[in-house]
Amino acid sequence: MAQSADSPLEAPLVIKGNTEELSRKDRKAECQLAPNPFLFLPDSSHAHAVGLGAGTIKKMNIQIITLFPEMFAEVLNTSMLFKAQDKGLASFSCINLRDYGLGPRKQVDDTPYGGGDGMLLKPEPLFAAVETAKANDPKATVLLMTPRGERYTQAKARALAKTTGLIIICGRYEGYDERVTSVVDQQISIGDYVLTGGEIPAMVVADSVVRLIPGVLGGETSAEVESFSDGQTLEYPQYTRPEEFKGMKVPNILLSGNHGEIAKWRKGQNKQYD
Ligand code: ADE
Repeated sequence: MAQSADSPLEAPLVIKGNTEELSRKDRKAECQLAPNPFLFLPDSSHAHAVGLGAGTIKKMNIQIITLFPEMFAEVLNTSMLFKAQDKGLASFSCINLRDYGLGPRKQVDDTPYGGGDGMLLKPEPLFAAVETAKANDPKATVLLMTPRGERYTQAKARALAKTTGLIIICGRYEGYDERVTSVVDQQISIGDYVLTGGEIPAMVVADSVVRLIPGVLGGETSAEVESFSDGQTLEYPQYTRPEEFKGMKVPNILLSGNHGEIAKWRKGQNKQYD
């Protein structure tokens, strides 16, 4: 059964002592104090397999190239993404694009040739940052978050979850120099709307991929998750106590104890993915 977001871990984990005692406040302080705002397991720079009990389990290494690493600390160190790191099934790191900026002012953007509003991310810092990330993890798939990309779907999340490493470039400002796409494997859009940058889309991808890694969701394997819903269906409506709340009743079928009929009802309620 899936754990709720705030339920305690089933088994105590041993990274940084008992993580059950590591409150969210402690974690936040840790993020702020660390030179890089992530937990960083000692071997986080390489995607590799880790032994966890019987068999060998895959670890996903996600490197994020961004001008705003501070945006990620809270999201990646909370709830399921935190647990995935704690279990040694995922590691996250940020590469600050500013570190690769040019000149004394660490310039990362410039005006577009041909005129036009806004500033574009320059190619040199982006290339250098991708090169660093590739040196850490040569087989990683490079993603560029952009509203011009292919629409992100659950099928894409499943495909990415089968890899061992991702490098996610967060686009920023009014765009980027098109030549960066020569080092990119996939351009991804999370929807037909324009956000200020690729940071939130990168979080969406990280979350949707990491939860599919076998072992991340409280003991389930992703295969089990897929057979549960064939990978194509969103969940049916669910209810918990009380049986009646503000005049709204739990559907009788769910109180019937007839598991066959309940399964049929749930199947009928499932919403299909695009
Ligand atoms: N950057 C800005 N808007 C975006 C979107 N919709 N998807 C991915 N990256 C983006």
